[in-house]
Amino acid sequence: MGFRVAVTGCAGFIGSHLVDDLLDGGVEVIGIDNLSSGSMANLASSKDDEDFTFIKGDILSEEDLEEALTDVDTVYHLAANPDVRAGVTDTQTHLNQNILGTFNVLEMMRKKKIKTISFTSTSTIYGEASKIPTPENYGPLVPISLYGSSKLACEAMISSYCYLFNMRSFVFRFANVVGARSGHGVIHDFISKLEKDNSRLEILGVSPGTLKSYCHISDCIAAILIVEKTCNETVGIYNIGSRDVLDVKSIADIVCRAMNLDKVKYVWTGGVDGGRGWPGDVKKMQLSIEKIISEGWKPMMSSEQSVRMAARELIREKFG
Ligand SMILES: NC(=O)c1ccc[n+]([C@@H]2O[C@H](COP(=O)([O-])OP(=O)(O)OC[C@H]3O[C@@H](n4cnc5c(N)ncnc54)[C@H](O)[C@@H]3O)[C@@H](O)[C@H]2O)c1
Repeated sequence: MGFRVAVTGCAGFIGSHLVDDLLDGGVEVIGIDNLSSGSMANLASSKDDEDFTFIKGDILSEEDLEEALTDVDTVYHLAANPDVRAGVTDTQTHLNQNILGTFNVLEMMRKKKIKTISFTSTSTIYGEASKIPTPENYGPLVPISLYGSSKLACEAMISSYCYLFNMRSFVFRFANVVGARSGHGVIHDFISKLEKDNSRLEILGVSPGTLKSYCHISDCIAAILIVEKTCNETVGIYNIGSRDVLDVKSIADIVCRAMNLDKVKYVWTGGVDGGRGWPGDVKKMQLSIEKIISEGWKPMMSSEQSVRMAARELIREKFG
């Protein structure tokens, strides 16, 4: 039998790209997704592949997980609620979807003796870091959003499962990942707003907005696939991002240019707390990527190139 893996959150933005690349590499993939934010359209290029099985199911259901994790060698665990803002109004969602969801996945792995998990974590676990670019060994980790704290809790649980039950893990702390199929995030928001009214653009925060690092989905998937070949740590933690940062106004300019709009009035909301777009939003984020570079990966695109490429891809996706 060949290599068989499970991908949770397979119909989402990052999950569906990962499925495409795993299938291209000759791997058999069992994908599970409850389609809460993902869609079958994201799986258009893989759904008919004979090496792909899709399970419409929920990682909070033991029965669904049991089906998805049968006879697999490794689990790519991506299913989560990735919306940082959601935690402000709904304090349960990240606890349920992210922390309990990850616990369920780990428990099923323990029962089925599956030894390897790749986990998509986030830069938000660092909170408002005082050291920038922020390395993986930065501490103390003081997240400022429930999303960030839920992912940090997941990382801690994964580490403990690895040491208690003889498992291995690859933990990826992503900067903002951008590209085709992305159903959330600043580029997606701007395109949707400009589709409704192309004379003005409401932007959360204070001009020129927060400064963050962006990474194109192609660089992000390449990083995941390289690390699992090179890493020999029990718990391998890697930042994934680019070498630079971009402010929100520059992203608005890129999106407007890509939509051929040159007279858009920017309307800044004022944000909260002297520059955050919303409560829980980090003002400046740039990750040190030296560790993953030493494993043989490097970003092919800067933040600006990643955003330009993603804007073009999302506009093409929406308007043809
Ligand atoms: N996009 C980013 O910039 C970014 C950055 C850091 C980390 N991440 C992480 O990467 C992962 C993928 O994010 P994404 O941007 O592709 O988001 P996404 O919303 O497109 O993908 C998440 C997928 O998980 C599915 N899902 C959610 N809850 C589920 C459940 N209970 N059972 C089964 N499926 C469920 C959704 O339907 C969706 O298809 C997430 O874990 C996210 O936290 C993303």
